[in-house]
Amino acid sequence: MIRMPDPSMYFLAIESSCDETAAAVFDATPRVLASVVASQTDLHARFGGVVPEVAARAHLQRLLPVVDEALRRAGIGIRDIGAVAVMNSPGLVGALLVGVSAAKMFALALNVPLVAVNHIEAHIYACRLAAERDVFPCIGLVVSGGHTSLFHCRSALDFALLGATIDDAAGEAFDKVASMLGLGFPGGPAVERIARDGNPQAFAFPRAFLRDPRLDFSFSGLKTAVLYALRALAPEGSSGPTSQSKSDLAASFQQAVIDVLVEKSRQALESTRLKVLSVGGGVAANGAFRQGLESMAARHGYMLVIPPLALCTDNAAMAALAVEKWKAGQLAPLDLDAEPTYVGPRRETLPAAKA
Ligand code: KG4
Ligand code: ZN
Repeated sequence: MIRMPDPSMYFLAIESSCDETAAAVFDATPRVLASVVASQTDLHARFGGVVPEVAARAHLQRLLPVVDEALRRAGIGIRDIGAVAVMNSPGLVGALLVGVSAAKMFALALNVPLVAVNHIEAHIYACRLAAERDVFPCIGLVVSGGHTSLFHCRSALDFALLGATIDDAAGEAFDKVASMLGLGFPGGPAVERIARDGNPQAFAFPRAFLRDPRLDFSFSGLKTAVLYALRALAPEGSSGPTSQSKSDLAASFQQAVIDVLVEKSRQALESTRLKVLSVGGGVAANGAFRQGLESMAARHGYMLVIPPLALCTDNAAMAALAVEKWKAGQLAPLDLDAEPTYVGPRRETLPAAKA
């Protein structure tokens, strides 16, 4: 028999969708007691990107020690866990399967409920954790390695999709530009680092859909424009671009991404008349992007909720969305599967905002 829900009960949460093995413990407030992330960056760096097979094997080795460490930091034992949460979608299927299997095993062995959480929607819930108060209804922007999506979030459990990238995600564009510039993996932080010494106006890169009422994104043309600019700077046989021109390229690329993300968020806020913008995902760790969002929000009187860096990049604490699902009775069966593809919520079309 499943134990009855108790407001003071502890949740154990597991994340293994990509290259971070993570576990967290939170209560039903939700208050995070421990959040442990074992990054696999060192394992994938020499391949220049995440290798799915390597990621899955590393999750298998690291997951139980990471869970142990989360329980130790929370100061509780495994028998104190009253529910298990797992992010089962989207992600790399082999990587997800490790976390999903472990979560099902814990739920079965402890005889406690299992709650499945969507990783993309959990990135928005990280804002609820950071704010320590309700942030809904709001506009939610998720900018990660695999997704760039704008949501109308009526509540933590009721999202509509306002727009999404039609090709590359913003984080993916950062990673590819980093690789073109020879900056290695992971790319986002490396591009940000050299962009600090660059001129964001040095190159006039495209800003797709900037003045278009639709709230979708496209970053593949921008990526190609960076490639052509780089080739023009450093033709074959030359000694390569100077470090100043690489910084200028990085800063101009970064600014083009930021301009579109900030403007589309503004349009979504204006069209819905909502006042709160919640931003999550790895790219939200970017300092220039955070500043761009802050000044837009200050100019228009919006409240910006953007979590500290550790809650922007992948972690298991954001699975505290499970508390809301558990309160709503949305429990997962023990034959829960890993779902690699993101099945987003219904699409909502808004009246156009003023440019
Ligand atoms: O949310 P996340 O940790 O994992 C996914 O769910 O994809 O996002 C990872 C992405 C990567 O593409 C990474 O390059 C990007 O976030 N990223 C950044 C920064 N830190 C991480 N992009 C730009 N600037 C950063 N500081
Ligand atoms: Zn993520």
